[in-house]
This record gives sequence, structure tokens and C-alpha cells, in this order.
Amino acid sequence: MTELIRPADDDQTPEQFARMLIAALDERDGRTREHSDRVATLARELGLECGLSTQELRLLGIAAEMHDIGKIGIPDHVLMKPGGFNADEWEVMKTHPIRGERILRAIEQDGMSEVATVVRHHHERFDGSGYPDGIAGTAVPLLSRILSIVDSYDAMATPRPYHRARTHAEVMAILSKEESQKHDPDLLERFRRSTEKWQ
Ligand SMILES: [Fe+2]
Repeated sequence: MTELIRPADDDQTPEQFARMLIAALDERDGRTREHSDRVATLARELGLECGLSTQELRLLGIAAEMHDIGKIGIPDHVLMKPGGFNADEWEVMKTHPIRGERILRAIEQDGMSEVATVVRHHHERFDGSGYPDGIAGTAVPLLSRILSIVDSYDAMATPRPYHRARTHAEVMAILSKEESQKHDPDLLERFRRSTEKWQ
């Protein structure tokens, strides 16, 4: 059973714990860390467009930085595999949101249990076909729905071993095609608006 990590002193913030864990993930897999940094920037932009409160924006920023922290627990032969996954490897990879939630619940600090829940649900889909719980629509926490859009955006906009980097227009076209299946249409519209200034 995981022991709770207690703050060393009153000045220890969730952000400091987050930085420690991110440094650990970076040692394992630097690509995930760079992706998480970009996702955090995009998430804050979409969060602002959604009118989130200062506290919600803060938790969203931490959740975005930490969303793939559970990959620390994925064995090398899966995490580092350059090509596509077979069915068994894919099942292992799909455990990373639950592993991430477990790590974050061990941090006994204000807001961290909410961050842990957001991380658990960052691969749910709007139509209920995602994982780990297959929940749908607004049953998926708002911050997880925001994270899901910007996570997908960055995954497509940057080169991966199995695809080239797509242009902004190409990514937006794919996201629009997936509207209502993968993503919350209202949030996607806000994302579209907030990215118009990039063109
Ligand atoms: Fe993920």
C-alpha cells in the first residue's frame, strides 16, 4: 500500500511535489515531459477561454503537467516501443491513468485529490468509449474534458514515431471530425476560437 507523502514544512506546495515527480518522469522518458509542458500551456489557454476560476486554472495546470505521470509505472518494453502496440501491450499502456491517479492520491495536499481524479479520466471520451471507466458527457470532469482536447491536439501536432507532425489546420479538421465522439463539442468550439489567433 502506498504511504502518504506528507509536506516537509508549511511552504511545500503541490507545484513543488509536481516538479519532483516530473523530474522523475523526465529521467525515464524525456519525450513525455516535453509533451506535458506543451499540454499545460495549451490547457491554461483553453481554461482561460472557458472562464475557469484562478483555483481551477491552477489545478488544471498541475493536472496537465502530471497527466501522464503514471507512465513511470509502464515497463520499458512497452513505454519505449517505437512502433504500434499489440493488444496485450495496449492493455498495459491503458493502465497509466489509474497509475497516475494512485501516485497523485499519495500527495496529501489541498486540491491534489481533485487533480488525481482529473488525471484518472483524461482518456475518457465524450461518447463513453474511452477508458478507464467508460463514463460519458458531463460525467467526465470538466478539467479532464479540457485536458483531453489539448492532449489530442499536441499528440497530432508534434511528430511521433508512427506519424509526422500535422499542421494546425489538419489537426483542427481531425478534431472536428471526432467531435461528439471523443470531445465535448462546446469545449471544442471554445478551443477553435482560442486558436484562431494562431493563424
Ligand atoms: Fe495519457
